Amino acid sequence: MVKAIRVHELGGPEVLKWEDVEIGEPKEGEIRVKNKAIGLNFIDIYFRKGVYKAPTMPYTPGMEAVGVVTAVGPGLTGRQVGDVVGYGGNPMGSYTEEQILPAEKVVPVPSSIDPIVAASVLLKGMTAQFLVCRCFKVEPGHTVLVHAAAGGVGSLLCQWANALGATVIGTVSTKEKAAQAKEDGCHHVIIYKEEDFVTRVNEITSCKGVEVVYDSVGKDTFQGSLECLKPRGLMVSFWPIVWHNRPCSFASTWSEIAVLDEAFPHAIQHNPG
Ligand SMILES: NC(=O)c1ccc[n+]([C@@H]2O[C@H](COP(=O)([O-])OP(=O)(O)OC[C@H]3O[C@@H](n4cnc5c(N)ncnc54)[C@H](OP(=O)(O)O)[C@@H]3O)[C@@H](O)[C@H]2O)c1
Repeated sequence: MVKAIRVHELGGPEVLKWEDVEIGEPKEGEIRVKNKAIGLNFIDIYFRKGVYKAPTMPYTPGMEAVGVVTAVGPGLTGRQVGDVVGYGGNPMGSYTEEQILPAEKVVPVPSSIDPIVAASVLLKGMTAQFLVCRCFKVEPGHTVLVHAAAGGVGSLLCQWANALGATVIGTVSTKEKAAQAKEDGCHHVIIYKEEDFVTRVNEITSCKGVEVVYDSVGKDTFQGSLECLKPRGLMVSFWPIVWHNRPCSFASTWSEIAVLDEAFPHAIQHNPG
């Protein structure tokens, strides 16, 4: 038996229960991992509240962790007991002392990297990499707008876009987060509770707009984000619920909607005329 956080019913943080669970031994292709650090992501909340449907009920939340291999499945090569490994994404179930994982889902974590750091950037880092390198390729000279700039994904996006040579504009809710966003490489920080972000982006860019908006917020920022784009700029919405509430009605005025993956993210190109 190991201890894990379990969810038996949908709701707020109070539905998280600390319980004994039986995880068994790894089968073919699997490893058993004793977690050293567990990453938290906003998606954990979506599952807990029922916005997304968990694969089972009850279930163990969590999609990111780093730990030590304590057992390997029969015939498995390439991983051994004592290895420090990490994963981000599926399978869900990292809020636990130990878990069984498919060996192919983990990557080795070098001793030079603190497990806490690794567990906090694997999923968010892959997300950021996809967003700045593949969904829209950020290049020197670009101006990018990042909402929730001090959040998990947002702070990585700002650092990465800055390192790629872009001018980074970030939006945040508070002064404290503004300081954090500055530290993370934002050249301009907009505290959206105090000033209208569309007006400020227009001022900062001399009404030229930005090449790309990374919008993880959704309903409250969607229209304004579109207004910040320069012609043929790209709006990347990676808050999937927006599409449940506002299906592709923007297609008539904002063309070239590309659904790059079933759930994430959605890109819209501003293509006037
Ligand atoms: N983690 C990933 O790898 C990943 C992958 C794909 C998609 N996403 C999506 O990206 C978004 C951010 O994820 P994250 O893991 O980086 O989360 P996070 O660290 O918790 O950041 C969320 C930030 O969003 C801002 N926010 C704006 N409106 C909000 C609201 N109504 N409720 C809560 N926060 C609000 C807040 O910043 P301010 O206070 O500054 O507004 C908050 O700090 C989520 O929609 C998530 O589904 C994340």
